[in-house]
Amino acid sequence: MVVLKQWIYIGLVPLVVILTSCHREVESRSYTIGFSQCTEGDAWRKAMHKEIVREVSFHPELSLQIKDGKNSSANQVKHIREFIEQKVDLLIISPNETEPITPIVEEAFEKGIPVILVDRKISSSSYSAYVGADNFQIGKLAGEYVANLLNGKGKIIEVWGLQGSSPAIERHKGFLEAIGPYQEIQVVAEVKGEWEKVIAKKRFPAVYQQHSDPDLVFAHNDVMALGAYESLKGLKKQNSLKFIGFDGLAGPNGGLQLVEDGVLDATFLYPTGGEEIIKLAYNILHNQPYKKENILNSTVIDGRNVHIMKQQSDKILSQEVNINRQQQRISEQVKIYNNQRALLYVLVISLFIIIILGAYAVYSLWLRHESNRALMAKNREILEQRNEIAEMAKKAEKANEAKLKFFTNVSHEFRTPLTLILGPVEDALQSNISVGLKKDMLLVRQNALRLLKLVNQLMDFRKVERKKMRLQATESDLVKFVEEVVQSFKRLARKKQIHLKVISRVKEINVYFDKDKVDKILFNLLSNSFKFTKENGHITVLIELSDDRNHVLVTVEDTGKGMTPSQVASAFDRFYTADDNASLGTGLGLALSKEFIKLHHGEISVVSKEREGTRFIFTLPLGKEHLKPEEIIQETTQEEQSAPLTAGVLDADMELFTGTHAQETSDMVKEHTILVIEDNKELREFLVSRLSTDFNVVDAPHDAFGLQQAFDTIPDLIICDVNLPQKDGLEVTFLLKKDMRTSHIPVILLTAKDTLEQKIDGIQAGADLYVTKPFSFLYLRERVKGLLKNRDLLKVYYNSAISVDTKVQTAQPKQLDKKFINEVAALVESNLQNPDLSVNDISESLGMSRVHVYRKMKALLGYSLNDYIVNTRLKKARHLLLNSQMNISEIAYEVGFSSPAYFSTAFKNHFNMSPSDFKSTRPGKEKILV
Ligand code: FRU
Repeated sequence: MVVLKQWIYIGLVPLVVILTSCHREVESRSYTIGFSQCTEGDAWRKAMHKEIVREVSFHPELSLQIKDGKNSSANQVKHIREFIEQKVDLLIISPNETEPITPIVEEAFEKGIPVILVDRKISSSSYSAYVGADNFQIGKLAGEYVANLLNGKGKIIEVWGLQGSSPAIERHKGFLEAIGPYQEIQVVAEVKGEWEKVIAKKRFPAVYQQHSDPDLVFAHNDVMALGAYESLKGLKKQNSLKFIGFDGLAGPNGGLQLVEDGVLDATFLYPTGGEEIIKLAYNILHNQPYKKENILNSTVIDGRNVHIMKQQSDKILSQEVNINRQQQRISEQVKIYNNQRALLYVLVISLFIIIILGAYAVYSLWLRHESNRALMAKNREILEQRNEIAEMAKKAEKANEAKLKFFTNVSHEFRTPLTLILGPVEDALQSNISVGLKKDMLLVRQNALRLLKLVNQLMDFRKVERKKMRLQATESDLVKFVEEVVQSFKRLARKKQIHLKVISRVKEINVYFDKDKVDKILFNLLSNSFKFTKENGHITVLIELSDDRNHVLVTVEDTGKGMTPSQVASAFDRFYTADDNASLGTGLGLALSKEFIKLHHGEISVVSKEREGTRFIFTLPLGKEHLKPEEIIQETTQEEQSAPLTAGVLDADMELFTGTHAQETSDMVKEHTILVIEDNKELREFLVSRLSTDFNVVDAPHDAFGLQQAFDTIPDLIICDVNLPQKDGLEVTFLLKKDMRTSHIPVILLTAKDTLEQKIDGIQAGADLYVTKPFSFLYLRERVKGLLKNRDLLKVYYNSAISVDTKVQTAQPKQLDKKFINEVAALVESNLQNPDLSVNDISESLGMSRVHVYRKMKALLGYSLNDYIVNTRLKKARHLLLNSQMNISEIAYEVGFSSPAYFSTAFKNHFNMSPSDFKSTRPGKEKILV
């Protein structure tokens, strides 16, 4: 703001200087002059006015107001009073009559208003100045001229001006004084002309006719002389009658013209004095010296000088015209000047405004620049702060991530010990133990399962948080599903004497839902209800359709202790536990249920009243339009490899780890060898000890040794943990499956991680099965058996695949194994005639050791390479026996036997008949020989 003021100041100073300099020529004070004129009706006074106006125009500070008395003294008194009241700066008065006007002039003068008397006088000296001719003198001059003109003898008629006016009186006196010495000159009559032509013209003839032969008419002014002259027209008039007047005005009907025209014999110049009057007024008003009596000169104009006088006056008149024209032009110029000055003012003001606005704009720009700079600085600061916050957030996120990772890893780590706890507990429960110990074991199992449930929930949360949780919906009958889940609580209900029932308003309803997740939701809701419902209470599960029939509503209602409003408000908050620390368990279940419901695009809500009960309602949309294609899966038997978390988890009688088959296998011949690669000592030892019942078991604590063992022993199956210290289980699997020696061996991966991606990775690496910890050992054992059985089926397949005449449909072999078999078959086939074809030759061609080829052949086909070569020779021989005309000796050599005798022995051993017997047998009676 201070800067703005400075700018305004900078702009204002030159403006003031400019404006004041423009004004410097103009007087700051202006004066009003009041002019009381006795009459404006005659030419003489009009001429005076012209002069006055012209002179005033040279002094812009003077403003003039003229009031016309119209020959009335009363009017004039009135006008002068008005001027006094108006407080004019100066009065100019040309009194109509002396006496009536004198008092008001005195009054004005006494009131301090300067008074200039013009032409006519008052009978007092109370005035500032007088301008006019000396009427006595010019009267005298006229008298002297007349005496001379009349040669000292003659009769005169005097035409008077207004008799109360000073010029009339003085001219009369002067005239009389001049003609006084001339006895024979007489004023024989007087006419009261009152300064007016018409009056003189009217009154003159009567006086003229009363006096015969007058010689001269002496009129107090030219117009009255003309009036008298004109009044004689038509009358008998002496040609020698002379006319004398005053004023000597220029212009038409002026005295000069009348003299020149011979109407008047002479006129006496009576100057109007307009210019002098204004000059005098100027001096008075400006306190400059001036004379009180300003007598104007007079002269006689007659036939002798009229011409020159007229010329001069014409010239003056034309100059006056010029002056007027110039004045007009000047006034136009002044107007233009004024306009231009006004324009200049406007321009200057505009310029000033522009400068101010410009300055303001510059100032605003500067301000904006400054504020921009400040803003930018602030922005930078904010940006820095934001970056800092982002950095901190990143760090916090990292820390959080690390924490969560740690959290998850710890959760993972819980699974192995849980497996190790649950395994022996299951064993103990299956064995003959005392009732007391069984009770303890059940308690251990119950709590281990509880812990397992918590770990699972935590891991589910982690998945939800990382958006890794995916819906795996299948289309199923929800009513049946709910009933099944509720069914698993029946025993508990009986035990706690709670009335548990399912009411379904629909008989069945197909809904796309993730069984695992809905199972967890229902389990959670029912568990809560059971926890808070007392003996004889009711728990009801209601299934119904929404009014719009777009959703299915599942209500779990109990008559338990209910919840407080604040508990209701926070029921679905993560990790929320109520004050009493028990009403909502860990606070995970409900929050997780809500997430699961959200995944289904459904809703969950709770209504509860303390001491009355709680009602949870969740909805699931019908149809599958709301689901992404990848969220819908076909129901398969291999949907969940890990032990399912069923509603029975908390039930002490849960049959998760049923050991019903535990004894069955103990007597089996240990035909298969299993390699266990597991870094966790306890788990490894647990697996070795449990698997040893049915299988030969070799073990390895890490990947390198595991691979070594695999190549050395070529086991029938490998169980490998995913989380190994060096190479992880996926890599080990990959290496095993890549190698011709071990590619046929089924691999089971054990892991605590059960994300779908991990499973896919495992399968992609070539793993045959993925088992998630904690696992049921029995489940694992069954899967091991299943895989081994599959392997046996493959053997049949391979045998048939290379058999010339038998086809058995079975599981498809792995690509690398097929390749191995094909290569072996091709090598044997092409060298069949060679009786020296050995295992060494084939192994060399395959790039494998004898032992590996042996083991792989054994694993894939169930017999050695040597047996395979002989079998192939015999099968080919059988084919030739059936389909060719070759004799037995020829066939023996053709299929690579060194002698027909050896061939016959071998054939008989294999097919239980001699080649010749076989040849004679019809093909229809052929036994299936494999
Ligand atoms: C004009 C006039 C003049 C004369 C003067 C005397 O009004 O009559 O003709 O000289 O006044 O006051």
